[in-house]
Amino acid sequence: MSPQEKSPAPAVWTSLEGIAYGGDYNPEQWPVSVRMEDLELMKEAGVTFLSVGIFSWGLLEPSEGEYDFGWLDDVLDNLAAAGIKVALATATAAPPAWLVRKHPEILPVTADGTVLGPGSRRHYTPSSAVYRRYATGITRVLAERYKDHPALALWHVDNELGCHVSEFYGDEDAAAFRAWLERRYGSIDALNAAWGTAFWSQHYASFEEILPPRVAPSTLNPGQQLDFQRFNSWALMDYYGALLEVLREVTPGVPATTNLMVSSATKSMDYFEWAQDLDVIANDHYLVAADPERQIELAFSADLTRGVAGGDPWILMEHSTSAVNWQPRNQPKMPGEMLRNSLAHVARGADAVMFFQWRQSFAGSEKFHSAMVPHGGRDTRVWREVVELGASLKRLAPVRGSRVESRAAIVFDYEAWWASEIDSHPSQDVKYLDLMRAFHRSLFLRGISADFVHPTASLEGYGLVLVCTLYNVTDAAAANIASAARAGATVLVSYFSGIVDERDHIRLGGYPGAFRDLLGVTVEEFHPLLAGSTVKLSNGLSDGTGESPGDGWVGSVWSEHVRVVGASTDGPAEVLATFTEYPLDGVPALTRRPAGAGSAWYLATFPDQDGIEALVDRLLAESGVAAAAEADQGVELTRRRDADGRGFVFAINHSRADATVRVAGEELLSGERFAGTVPAGGVAVIAED
Ligand code: GAL
Repeated sequence: MSPQEKSPAPAVWTSLEGIAYGGDYNPEQWPVSVRMEDLELMKEAGVTFLSVGIFSWGLLEPSEGEYDFGWLDDVLDNLAAAGIKVALATATAAPPAWLVRKHPEILPVTADGTVLGPGSRRHYTPSSAVYRRYATGITRVLAERYKDHPALALWHVDNELGCHVSEFYGDEDAAAFRAWLERRYGSIDALNAAWGTAFWSQHYASFEEILPPRVAPSTLNPGQQLDFQRFNSWALMDYYGALLEVLREVTPGVPATTNLMVSSATKSMDYFEWAQDLDVIANDHYLVAADPERQIELAFSADLTRGVAGGDPWILMEHSTSAVNWQPRNQPKMPGEMLRNSLAHVARGADAVMFFQWRQSFAGSEKFHSAMVPHGGRDTRVWREVVELGASLKRLAPVRGSRVESRAAIVFDYEAWWASEIDSHPSQDVKYLDLMRAFHRSLFLRGISADFVHPTASLEGYGLVLVCTLYNVTDAAAANIASAARAGATVLVSYFSGIVDERDHIRLGGYPGAFRDLLGVTVEEFHPLLAGSTVKLSNGLSDGTGESPGDGWVGSVWSEHVRVVGASTDGPAEVLATFTEYPLDGVPALTRRPAGAGSAWYLATFPDQDGIEALVDRLLAESGVAAAAEADQGVELTRRRDADGRGFVFAINHSRADATVRVAGEELLSGERFAGTVPAGGVAVIAED
């Protein structure tokens, strides 16, 4: 079992069978004859679940107060008759033209004062009282109309909140920001203290004087910037909450969610915070076609989504069957890649696999975006793979509800992503995700799955805990991480962690203030490296004898003046590697100290590939964390385990050669005993004996 707490399955799972399958369905773009054909094709593909009505407001309410529900009634009735369940959207993700004409004040405003106009989508600001009135209005009308509809399984609130625009700088946003600050700080004195406004004459006499961090002559107050990020994330969720309130009132028994965009590219929303208001976590994920290791980014996104879901099963609400239309060059997926992608999400905790979109549009901006039914119709590779995927998912029904097993944890905090990348720092090359992704990649390549865990969530049961560039930490988070080490975990903390508190105030007395005692080191001065330059390290890691085979490794991005300090009952930190170049020659670059039943490691640079691998070897050896199975290189591995203790090993062969995987049991996709080989590009899901 995953060490995370188990929560009761939300109602959506009880109305869906097996691993749900489907996508966004936009029937309003098609004549009735095509909609009829859709029903047959959905049956052929094994579709069980669709998101409907996401961008339908303009047709459902073509002018204010005049509704046309006829087409949606028919669509939902037909889907219900076909046994297909629906995530019904609130239709609010694109305000209709009449509303913008009447109330242009709902439009979003950027930092330089540009008003973003209509003609695409998501052209509203979440703090607009007028927009909220209209959006809750159409939500109520939809909820009243369809509350007892047999197809309704889930509310799909708005769509990808924060997509395209996630920062709002208009006057109404400014007022909402001030009100949010007043609630957060209670008094203007407290705000002045938190923002450090004694600096540069930034003192405020009242909340009325405060503005969003709009374009300014130089760098803006970091406290103001950080709070504005918090505010925007909150404002989008608060808008979600306003729609949710209506849905809860009219349909108290129907679960609700909104589709997140958890990935290495989405920084603006604190999804750990958001998760509290979602009945089930739903995520959209798109591969970057030009990334040769896109399956690893997919795994990062899926693991982080599972972290946001607290380890519970989640819905993959959108991905693509093949090419998208919004990257510079939109490559199709390779043969078999869609199946590998879909099952990789399932391997990492998804219990529903859905696409944008069911039928490829013939007009509009997204007509070159792939779909389940391509422009070419049934006689296409994509369609055949869509049908094959539907059949495969059906066979994976036994996996549903099981949880991914991970003994490695990567601490993840959106606030640290925001704060660590604010301007005026020692180096613009310190990016929150970079080192974390290097570790995640190394674990991925070894067949080890990692859970992403919020710094204040329980770390119980994890053998290995990685803390990368966790620049800002609360006292509670620092104590939580320290107690994981004392309880027996191998905890590694990297450079630029624990530097400031939640107000972005330096923790004085030597870096890294929050972790100095745990690690037994102090840092006097940072020595960030120049662009593209590296620093040599002694290799004290390879075999524990202190000998240095080869030339040792190099670090990039960061170096610093580290000193071992403090002697507790646990003893001082041992220096495992040092910098070997002027001016840091002989200065510790990697240290390890016993901490209670576990250990606390400190890493003062970004090691090269060899260094990362050697370090991970040592961390795994010490912590006893191991791969889900023994397998050849190129095979992605995870294990899900159900409540009865049955294990399901997912083995996804990303290589072009057949691969051996040592697991005994029944291979669910074929229904046969697993013979030990996963064909090139293929997938095996083995229910263990
Ligand atoms: C998502 C969006 C969908 C569709 C898709 C295309 O961001 O929710 O409506 O636009 O991207 O990849």
